[in-house]
Amino acid sequence: MASLGLTLSCTISRLNLMSELSHNLPTIRVFKALSSRLTPQKPLHHHRLFKSSFSTLNCSKTLGSNLVFYDNLVVLGIETSCDDTAAAVVRGDGEILSQVVSSQADLLARYGGVAPKMAEEAHSQVIDQVVQDALDKANLAEADLSAVAVTIGPGLSLCLRVGVQKARKIAATYQLPIVGVHHMEAHALVARLCDRDLQFPFMALLISGGHNLLVLARDLGHYLQLGTTIDDAIGEAYDKSAKWLGLDLRRSGGPAIEELARQGDAQSVTFSVPMKQHKDCNFSYAGLKTQVKLAIESKNIDAGIPFSSASIEDQRLRADIAASFQRVAVLHLEERCERAIQWALEIEPSIKHLVVSGGVASNQYVRARLHEVVARNSLQLVCPPPSLCTDNGVMIAWTGIENFRLGRFDPPPPAIEPEDCQLDLRPRWPLGEEYERGRSIARSMRTARIHPSLTALTQASQCQKS
Ligand code: KG4
Ligand code: ZN
Repeated sequence: MASLGLTLSCTISRLNLMSELSHNLPTIRVFKALSSRLTPQKPLHHHRLFKSSFSTLNCSKTLGSNLVFYDNLVVLGIETSCDDTAAAVVRGDGEILSQVVSSQADLLARYGGVAPKMAEEAHSQVIDQVVQDALDKANLAEADLSAVAVTIGPGLSLCLRVGVQKARKIAATYQLPIVGVHHMEAHALVARLCDRDLQFPFMALLISGGHNLLVLARDLGHYLQLGTTIDDAIGEAYDKSAKWLGLDLRRSGGPAIEELARQGDAQSVTFSVPMKQHKDCNFSYAGLKTQVKLAIESKNIDAGIPFSSASIEDQRLRADIAASFQRVAVLHLEERCERAIQWALEIEPSIKHLVVSGGVASNQYVRARLHEVVARNSLQLVCPPPSLCTDNGVMIAWTGIENFRLGRFDPPPPAIEPEDCQLDLRPRWPLGEEYERGRSIARSMRTARIHPSLTALTQASQCQKS
């Protein structure tokens, strides 16, 4: 790991942790009370040491790494890991000051999926405006911020780069600390913004377009992976099914299937539940996708004909397939969650909550079915509102706040960065360490690691400190 003399380094490496114990940090302006936006106070305070700066905060509650709510941090969060360009400003006490999302829905509808180069261009076109809107809506300027948080992985490199460059530019210009955020950790942690009683340890089912994770969240930056997908994530199955059914993809495939499924008979098409024979907590959606494709072909549905132009009978068939697909896709989630809850309670009997987050968690049917599962197991379900389940800047800002409080941030980047600056982007970045029992024989080479997990890095840095 690099040393703390990071101002000259042009990589973001939150996990090199700018230690709260360090006494040789560069001068940075770390905190600025939110009250300054109401009564502008200049000049800004410069604090030499993180530790002394931190003590200037109005914090009143610390529970290990559980939340300290009452402070004056104001953090800008930037998210560009996939197809949404998002920014938000969130206060340390959890108040959302602004939230802006620009989606690439038209591109998605045109190409039926995310094309990285085009997604990068789309992010580049709107990033400045999205961030500006977020600041304007919060009635703040960059100089009022305490820090900038940005997704550094996992995701598409080309897309991550756009957000990271923007965050670094702001952080360098206004001498702000910067927090590199794990996208999936952010999906899980935003639940702690929504439910102030949610403390570690808790379980999380994170379901999105690219990820299907069951984790035991032990602490900030510390996750045990109970299950993951061996091929596709559930969101991918929703998206492809919607495309093959000729649905309008402008709001992405998930909502389109959810809506159509309400009109269909969920028992009418027989699909088999994936991985029944595997008594673990892993997922597989590639086979179900194929089953949907075959069902569409066998019923002679022409996906080239948009749903709105299809005959009534054809529309009914499509609705039946959508409903049957959704029933089985969610049944697979239910079965894995039941087992994961048992495993998690054996490891951490104090667990009381299952968090369900990520884009697919905005689905009402998914929420209702998982509510039944947790109720059967005497747990509580914590599901952020739909706008915080799909990709957003709030979850990034909030995760930035949680990490920032623990001293997990990097100093402002240098004002001038070399052209060939090597950014620390982590397109394939596991969240947690695998639970031994959860290792699947069915796992393919696709799961080969590119980057050490967030948990491994957090633990390594903690060892270094002690
Ligand atoms: O978390 P997210 O916004 O982005 C990624 O990190 O991937 O998740 C996007 C996924 C897409 O596959 C989208 O179709 C799905 O979430 N999704 C839904 C719903 N809303 C979004 N899936 C099912 N039902 C929904 N209502
Ligand atoms: Zn996501």
